[in-house]
Amino acid sequence: MKIQLMNVQRQHERYASEYEEAALKVLRSGGYIGGEEVRKIEEEFAEYEGAKYGISCGNGTDALVLALRALGIGLGDEVITVSWTFFATAESIAAVGATPVFIDVCSDTYCMDPNLIEAAITEKTKAVLPVHFYGNSCEMDDIKKICKKHNLYLITDCAQSAGTRYKGERRNTLGDVSCFSFFPTKNFGCDGDGGMVLTDNEDIAKACRSLKVHGSGKDGLWTLKREYKLKNQEFPDDIPMGESKYYNYLIGYNSRLDAIQAAILRKKLVHLEEFIDGRRVNAKLYDEAFKSSEYITPMVQEDSYHSYYIYALKHNSASEIVDKLKNEGIQCGIYYPVPLHLQGAFAHLGYKKGDLPITEELSKTTFAIPVFPEIYEEERNYVIEKVLKALED
Ligand SMILES: Cc1ncc(COP(=O)(O)O)c(C=O)c1O
Repeated sequence: MKIQLMNVQRQHERYASEYEEAALKVLRSGGYIGGEEVRKIEEEFAEYEGAKYGISCGNGTDALVLALRALGIGLGDEVITVSWTFFATAESIAAVGATPVFIDVCSDTYCMDPNLIEAAITEKTKAVLPVHFYGNSCEMDDIKKICKKHNLYLITDCAQSAGTRYKGERRNTLGDVSCFSFFPTKNFGCDGDGGMVLTDNEDIAKACRSLKVHGSGKDGLWTLKREYKLKNQEFPDDIPMGESKYYNYLIGYNSRLDAIQAAILRKKLVHLEEFIDGRRVNAKLYDEAFKSSEYITPMVQEDSYHSYYIYALKHNSASEIVDKLKNEGIQCGIYYPVPLHLQGAFAHLGYKKGDLPITEELSKTTFAIPVFPEIYEEERNYVIEKVLKALED
């Protein structure tokens, strides 16, 4: 038996005719950039997650960059984030010229520890950027309270958490702005790259809308005028003003969600709850199977609704177990082997081993097993059998 950690092909096969028909319709229409499908998925996904505005873009990394830029975060600013995440979380902060300030996570939820935020705040801090890691929700009430007290923006990296709920509500959007990835393996993935920014704030929405298309259009003009106003400066009356894409007001990006991807995502959104239910059923069976073993199963806070992008087990011999499971034909994953504060790309920030003990321990002791909703029952049983057997010898 060979079992992949994630199997996007099976997800495609499940509703293949719907996705293919939607993609073909776009292909035949000739409308490949923007248009109805893109507008609709922005509205529909924003509604699904409970936000007012959805701004689609090229990928989840760009969604973070757009959000940071829209909030005016850049050179000289600091953003408090976690090291226990995918590189893009902190890369986006550095990409806008700001500095990521890494803090540790809670040892049980693997999400940002709210108790560590205040000690990391300096006069340069502009925002806090937590990650709903593996699909588990951060303690948003606590984080929000601290952001409010210190007048900091709250940007949430929701790349792994489409469909996650917090305190009974499907609300990934409790901060100022939330950033999603539609990378194919994600719970809500397209058939290529894609991403979206969600916000309730019209200013942020307009800035993102313009930044993603080279800072052009009426949203760009609006954002530039706002920038002048915030700085109490007179808006120059000699700037060429037009609403077409050839009038550029901000230094932006080219970051669009393709119409084909939008059309496919619209079809997938209809089934997203079903996909998440499938992950949750698998997770529950795993929890049950491993609860009396040496493995530590994922912790879910009361009232939270984990969407299980990743189902990770914790054990001191994680890497040996991963090797054994590989020999049994089961693909596992280490998410992530190098915490960001120890990555070469951030060496100039001066962090050293031991600075974030929980993160560093988790990087050595956790491993992901297949939890994708289309896994067959006999495969899941095989995973359970071999994961338990790996403890025996
Ligand atoms: C936590 C996190 N943030 C950001 C990203 C970046 O998303 P993308 O790969 O779509 O750029 C990812 C995706 O892998 C992620 O897992």
